Amino acid sequence: MRKEDILKSLEKVKYPGLDRSIVDLKIIKSIEEENKKPIITLSMQNDEAFQVLQKSLQDLFDNDVEIRREASMQKKSINYGDTANPNNRAPYAKRVIAVTSGKGGVGKSTVSVNLSVALAQKGFKVGLLDADVYGPNVPRMTQTADEKLRWNDNNKIIPSENFGIKIMSVGLTTPSSDTPLVWRSSVAVSALIQFLEDVDWGELDFLVIDMPPGTGDIQLTMAQELPITAGVIVTTPQPVALDDVSRAIMMFKDINVPIGGLVENMSFFIAPDTKKRYDIFGKGGGEATAKKYDIPFLGKIPLDMQIREFSDEGTPPVAMGDKLQKDYYRNIADKLLAQIL
Ligand SMILES: Nc1ncnc2c1ncn2[C@@H]1O[C@H](COP(=O)(O)OP(=O)(O)O)[C@@H](O)[C@H]1O
Ligand SMILES: [Mg+2]
Repeated sequence: MRKEDILKSLEKVKYPGLDRSIVDLKIIKSIEEENKKPIITLSMQNDEAFQVLQKSLQDLFDNDVEIRREASMQKKSINYGDTANPNNRAPYAKRVIAVTSGKGGVGKSTVSVNLSVALAQKGFKVGLLDADVYGPNVPRMTQTADEKLRWNDNNKIIPSENFGIKIMSVGLTTPSSDTPLVWRSSVAVSALIQFLEDVDWGELDFLVIDMPPGTGDIQLTMAQELPITAGVIVTTPQPVALDDVSRAIMMFKDINVPIGGLVENMSFFIAPDTKKRYDIFGKGGGEATAKKYDIPFLGKIPLDMQIREFSDEGTPPVAMGDKLQKDYYRNIADKLLAQIL
């Protein structure tokens, strides 16, 4: 088989779950020959997709080829791709803030929404992209869950607007809010990139991204495709959450994403009747973690029943809460701005 013929056949092969050819996606690292047998080397991060592709290529060429994977790609922890010189899929945004966490349920979306609104209250133009493919909650938290995807004449998606911010969520791509997004990570990644490019945000001072939790392909790709101005990391104070958040911090550091700081959510609880303070998840863990990794500590938000109620009702506490509640988020926004302006 000639190299050109192999390449021609490969052009018709699609990346698992995507409608793009693997040649198009520049996944073919090399086509060489060893002892008369062609060796196709693929440059892929995603283990699952590699195995699928390996099998389908072997079938395609009747096992007359060997499919290998570029060695550096197998050690994800030390090869994060070209995150030092990311592409810019969001040239419309002056600054990109990626809100992330080690695990789900710690308040990442609540912080994303209220931080975005706090920035808008200061007069900035803010877009909030809900990129949490596993739990897109931003629509509910901003009362935009009933909206449908709409396109303008230029084939761009029109973002929703509420509380002075523009909002777009991957959750709006499903027919109803309880339809799960059953995306492979490779598909999620490509859908997110499309979102970045296809939403008509206009000019933004800040694009805030509510990222999926953890340290996976999506975080990695976002860091490759966007010049992230600052990562904001949300955690709760208990040790199991802090273990996970440490991994998120290490990943950001490894992939050269500047860390704007750490937010400790659900820090403490003041009983509304007795005013007694309870440190339900322990005390001081967030500050200690920030110190350990030498990143700014942006502030604490207590566990507050009203914050939960406001969020479920789609009325962000920074807009509709009392002064104390507003100040938690405004102070975090101020500290973050002090880092990046
Ligand atoms: N400070 C807080 N006090 C009380 N409830 C909160 C607080 N922060 C978040 N919540 C609630 O906790 C749940 C999880 O928060 P969410 O922001 O959705 O987390 P994540 O995005 O990390 O999964 C939501 O119901 C939210 O309303
Ligand atoms: Mg969330």
